[in-house]
Amino acid sequence: MKYRAMIDSVGHYVPKKIVNNFDLEKKTDTNDEWIKTRTGMFERHYVDDTEAASDLAFKATENAIYSSNTTTKQDIDMIIVATVTSDHPFPATACILQKRLGLKDIPAFDICAGCSGFIYALDIAKQYIENGIAKTILVVGVEILSQLINWADRGTNILFGDGAGAAIITRTPSNCISHIIDSKITADGTDWELLLQVAGGSRIPASPDSIRKNAHTIYMEGNKIFKLAVRAMSGVTAEVLKRNNVSTKDIDWVVPHQANLRIIESVAEKLNIPMSRMIVTIDKFANTSSASVPITISVALKQNMIKRGDMVVLTAFGAGLTFGTVLLRY
Ligand code: ACO
Repeated sequence: MKYRAMIDSVGHYVPKKIVNNFDLEKKTDTNDEWIKTRTGMFERHYVDDTEAASDLAFKATENAIYSSNTTTKQDIDMIIVATVTSDHPFPATACILQKRLGLKDIPAFDICAGCSGFIYALDIAKQYIENGIAKTILVVGVEILSQLINWADRGTNILFGDGAGAAIITRTPSNCISHIIDSKITADGTDWELLLQVAGGSRIPASPDSIRKNAHTIYMEGNKIFKLAVRAMSGVTAEVLKRNNVSTKDIDWVVPHQANLRIIESVAEKLNIPMSRMIVTIDKFANTSSASVPITISVALKQNMIKRGDMVVLTAFGAGLTFGTVLLRY
């Protein structure tokens, strides 16, 4: 390893429209009590007709750059966007964002790893910084899941929200304690059919029939995913801590993917970490997939929870099924 990588700054953006559990009661056969007790969710943000992923990504990026003391837009030498809800099936939303930022002649690409997308993108950014090829990488998690909701399925239609989180990853100056210590990304495709958007790809292209069958919306077997999510996030986090000789007592904060409060509680219990150190934003944003971890970091920074030098774990699980953990000193 030639250099170390660190998170220089983080910003987020969520669309203006707020939809709470009582609003959902009017749209589907559900109630506030069920949603709160089964998921921990209360509000989520939805885009209006004018907003796409790159619009949210651009605003989150502006906020991340504004929060940095050192980085300017022109310093960015790579853009990685994690999303399953890109502006268009192709090109990459990262290239649309690149144009919006007025940046040329740098690599820009998307990562499709479901809710683990930000962790995957951060792991990739870390490698490029450590080997000296890049110095300042923009990593964005952005999702517009409100447009993929199956309103006929109350098991999934209450779960998702829209938003974007952006992080600037830089080469750590030699006198700075902040750095990404270790990361592991992995996947197990065995159960990919438990969570997917069925139509719109090359297997089942868009057709009147696919639209009639609601096949462009999210399909998820929530019960099975729940158990796999707990096992995967606690397992990969324990592995990363162990190989770095870090005890759970040394961890100041865990930023888990915000899919369900009960999943977060189970992960905390398995890792023997008190809930007071698990950062939770699910009540405000619901599940924003690849945006959930960076949004939660950004909120925690604004609330002065995470501070420079804190030992932080980021962990996520999502479609694929993918999962991963990043261990860092903020
Ligand atoms: N409102 C009221 N009742 C409901 C609702 C609702 N919105 N949804 C389901 N129910 C009912 C069911 O019909 C069922 O009733 P029954 O017992 O009479 O049959 C009962 O509630 C229990 O249903 P379950 O599906 O067993 O509920 P569960 O406790 O498992 O919660 C949930 C469902 C919230 C989806 C949970 O399984 C979960 O969070 N799963 C994991 C989600 C996740 O981690 N996804 C991965 C990331 S997402 C991504 O990658 C895009």
